[in-house]
Amino acid sequence: MIRLGVLGHGGRISGVIKHCLRAVEPDVRVVGIVDPDEAGARARLDERDKADVAFYRNLKEMARQARLDALAVGTRCNLHAVYAAQAAAYDLPLYLEKPIATSMKQATALERAFAKSKCQVVVSFPLRVSPLCVLARERIEEGAVGSPQHVLGVNYVPYGTCYFDGWYRDYSITQGLFLQKATHDFDYMMYLMGSPIVRVMAMATKGRVFGGKKRAGLVCSKCDEADTCLESPQNRKRNLSGGAGGDHPCVFGKDIGTPVTGMNEDSSSALLEFASGAHGAYTQVFYSRRDAATRGATVSGYLGTVSFDWYTNQLKRVRHHAPFTDVTKAGEGQSHFGGDYELAVDFINLVKGKGESRTPIWAGLRSVYSCLAAKESAETGKAVAVRQVTG
Ligand SMILES: NC(=O)c1ccc[n+]([C@@H]2O[C@H](COP(=O)([O-])OP(=O)(O)OC[C@H]3O[C@@H](n4cnc5c(N)ncnc54)[C@H](O)[C@@H]3O)[C@@H](O)[C@H]2O)c1
Repeated sequence: MIRLGVLGHGGRISGVIKHCLRAVEPDVRVVGIVDPDEAGARARLDERDKADVAFYRNLKEMARQARLDALAVGTRCNLHAVYAAQAAAYDLPLYLEKPIATSMKQATALERAFAKSKCQVVVSFPLRVSPLCVLARERIEEGAVGSPQHVLGVNYVPYGTCYFDGWYRDYSITQGLFLQKATHDFDYMMYLMGSPIVRVMAMATKGRVFGGKKRAGLVCSKCDEADTCLESPQNRKRNLSGGAGGDHPCVFGKDIGTPVTGMNEDSSSALLEFASGAHGAYTQVFYSRRDAATRGATVSGYLGTVSFDWYTNQLKRVRHHAPFTDVTKAGEGQSHFGGDYELAVDFINLVKGKGESRTPIWAGLRSVYSCLAAKESAETGKAVAVRQVTG
């Protein structure tokens, strides 16, 4: 039996535990939780955990009393670094949600906390470990492109309204969508290129699609434009345009923030320089819908091009100097394209004392520092050097 303690037993981490960790190791039990919303956290537990779980006021108390084998942090973004820095003091494997920090202050504190820590971390970066991305990296290592010189990463998000009508609209928690979303993409792009990002130039557009002048607190059921608004539940349903199907906060509301006070962006892009000397570009768009969904990368070098897309779920390898192109199709139907299962395998292996994390704390920090550089660059219009980590 694996005794797991959870800090913030919310929607995402409870799903990871129920559907991924337990798929790998059925005998994972949630024995301790730190979460101020005890009723909500309890409701998300599996039946088998409800009787025995204990709630604690803080990590120290839980670590002392719950005889833990492992920890998981599943709070919202702004608390990941706070709890992870505390967890660094314990020799317990840690499953840590992304982004692992939302400010330079938090990230450098985390870097210090882990400098001498024995705590092994699986950062929740499912894309990097998804079989399709791993296959792309294998092709590149085999020499499919020669030396990788360029990468293009694209992310046309078909469910982007959640960043404006769900809790993610709160900029004070997310600090924008480089940290929230691109943290995955920058991470897997560094993995594919086999090299860290060292410099970023970025741009973001805000308040041109989402946000606006509708009154704070407005929800569709109280709005007299719901019959014509493309974002009302009835029109999302009618147009098959996706997003929350129930009553929800207005995506054109004042309370989303403004470009001056801070708000999530409609779209953002970054030019990336890698330590290897290669460069790349990344773009993310949050108002795309339906079949516009695209997420993946194209890596090229003199000898060839390797590209893949998680939505079409296939990888293409083009030989530049021979008349052959291969297309490889991946299996379907898995959470985060199979990446969540792979993370679970890594985490359970760590708890059992075998194997290593493929997404350690240093990968999380490299990504956060790249995202913070992108955020700063978009705000200042200047190229920003990325803080480097050695771990
Ligand atoms: N890795 C991925 O691919 C992926 C996918 C989805 C979400 N996420 C990340 O997961 C995180 C959680 O998202 P969610 O939708 O599950 O949120 P959520 O609101 O459902 O869960 C957050 C939980 O934290 C609890 N909490 C609040 N304050 C706390 C405190 N001081 N101490 C302990 N617990 C506290 C809340 O009560 C809640 O149970 C987000 O940061 C999000 O970015 C990651």
